This record gives sequence, structure tokens and C-alpha cells, in this order.
Amino acid sequence: MSAEIIDGKAFAATIRGKVAEQVRHLQDGHGVTPGLAVVLVGEDPASQVYVRNKGQQTEEAGMASFEHRLPADTSEKDLLALIARLNAAPAVHGILVQLPLPDHIDSAKVINAIDPAKDVDGFHISNVGLLATGQKALVPCTPLGCLMLLRDRLGSLAGMDAVVVGRSNIVGKPMAQLLLRDSATVTIAHSRTRDLAETCRRADILVAAVGRPEMIPGDWVKPGATVIDVGINRIPAPERGEGKSRLVGDVHFDSAAQVAGAITPVPGGVGPMTIACLLANTVTACCRAHG
Ligand code: GUN
Repeated sequence: MSAEIIDGKAFAATIRGKVAEQVRHLQDGHGVTPGLAVVLVGEDPASQVYVRNKGQQTEEAGMASFEHRLPADTSEKDLLALIARLNAAPAVHGILVQLPLPDHIDSAKVINAIDPAKDVDGFHISNVGLLATGQKALVPCTPLGCLMLLRDRLGSLAGMDAVVVGRSNIVGKPMAQLLLRDSATVTIAHSRTRDLAETCRRADILVAAVGRPEMIPGDWVKPGATVIDVGINRIPAPERGEGKSRLVGDVHFDSAAQVAGAITPVPGGVGPMTIACLLANTVTACCRAHG
């Protein structure tokens, strides 16, 4: 193995430490405690784990955590009424509605009902537009975490060839915008890209966000490239035998680590950065509200 392993867990702990310091400063200097409201509709097990972790880390950073767990059959109208209350609540500086929402709820309508100034996920159409036009926005947490890891390792990204595999609103598209803002030359590749292997091989920066376990093998990686693996895929335990379930990324780690200059592991790479950036966005939203 030749690649440097990028330690997202340690980096995220550093960010959380800085966030806690800012929280103390806001409390001591301004008498304000940043507050984050998280809304979970239904009982998706993965979402429950994320929401629990978010609540814990919010409190560890000294912030106020408000959790709203609603049954899966909650109506869109009731959810919109909750959002309206949270928009109006002075103690709430950030609002996150955990996705995916149940099918009977229009996610876009709910997200766009959040006050853009409290939209710490950066999914509101106003924040999407502000980011795309280079203005001050709240930026989606996972791509923001990836950007921090990239800047930390590479310094300036100007002129680098960056390939983002995946075009989701949550990761792929905002990731591309952030890389572009840092003057990288950006390609967004996806399931219909004609020669995905060849496209990936051009990348100085390869960001994988497709949600397909170990889809990108080492021979798609340019020697020395920086590989950011956003995928978190659980491989079930074999039906019979000893093995436990395990988490893998979208990149085949062992083969890619032979070729890359640096790579994020799964778990312990991008994952911890997402919540750390969420806390940072909540502090940013609080500062802007009281600035
Ligand atoms: N579900 C998976 N990732 C995310 C995220 O970053 N934000 C929200 N709200 N839901 C998610």
C-alpha cells in the first residue's frame, strides 16, 4: 500500500473542538447558545443512527439539540406546520429534516419551506442558487467536509482535474460547485457517462459518490491522485458462517490504495466530517442571526 490514509475522524474531532470554542465565545460574549433542530419522520434504521449521533455531538459541542421524531404517517401539512414553528423559534438557528422522507411527502416542498438562513443542510433552493453564483451560502455538509480534506492535503486546487462520480443534489452537484469555486477543472460523471474508467483515470481529484459498493477499482485511479470516497455501503453478513456485516465505500479500497497518493477510508474518512460540518454550519447560522 502506498497511499496516505486521510484521517477524517481526527480532522472532524479538530473541527468539533473549534466549534465548541466558538460556542463558548457566543455564550460568554453574547449570551447566545446555538441551537439545532433535527426532524426525523418514520423509523428508517440508518436515519435513526444518524439522528442519534447528530444529537449527541451537538450537545457535546455545547449547543442546544432539539429532536422531533414523527411517525411515518405524518401528513405533509403537519410537517410543514412544524417547520413553520421552528422557523419562528428564536432558540433554533439550524433546521435539518432527515432525508429520505416517506413517499407521500414532497421533499422539495418541505426543504424549501425551511427559512434559508436556518437551512444548515444547504439544500434550500436559495442556498443552492447562492452557491452556484458564488455568493455567501450555507453549503451542504458532506461536500463541505470533502473540500476541507482536499484543501488540507493539497493546498490550492486551482487547475487540477477533478472528477465527481455521482450527480445527486446532496453530494455530487454541490461538490462540483465547490471544486469549481476553488478553480479546479470539474467533470461530473454518472451512470450514463460513456467511458467512466477513462474519465476517472484523468482525475487528480476523484470524488466517488454513487452509492454502489466498491464500484471504482484501483485501475481507474490515476497514480498519485487524491481519492475521496463518500460511499457508505453496508454489506450484509453471509447467511451462513462466521462473517459480520461490514461497511465499504464506493471505491475498492485495497486496490485503489496501491495507486492513489491519498485516500479516505470507509469508515473514518468522509463520514465523521459531515456531522462536524453540520455543527459548524449551525454556528455560522447563529453568528449571522446575531451578527
Ligand atoms: N440523508 C443522508 N444524508 C443526509 C444529509 O446530509 N442531510 C439530510 N437532511 N438527510 C440526509
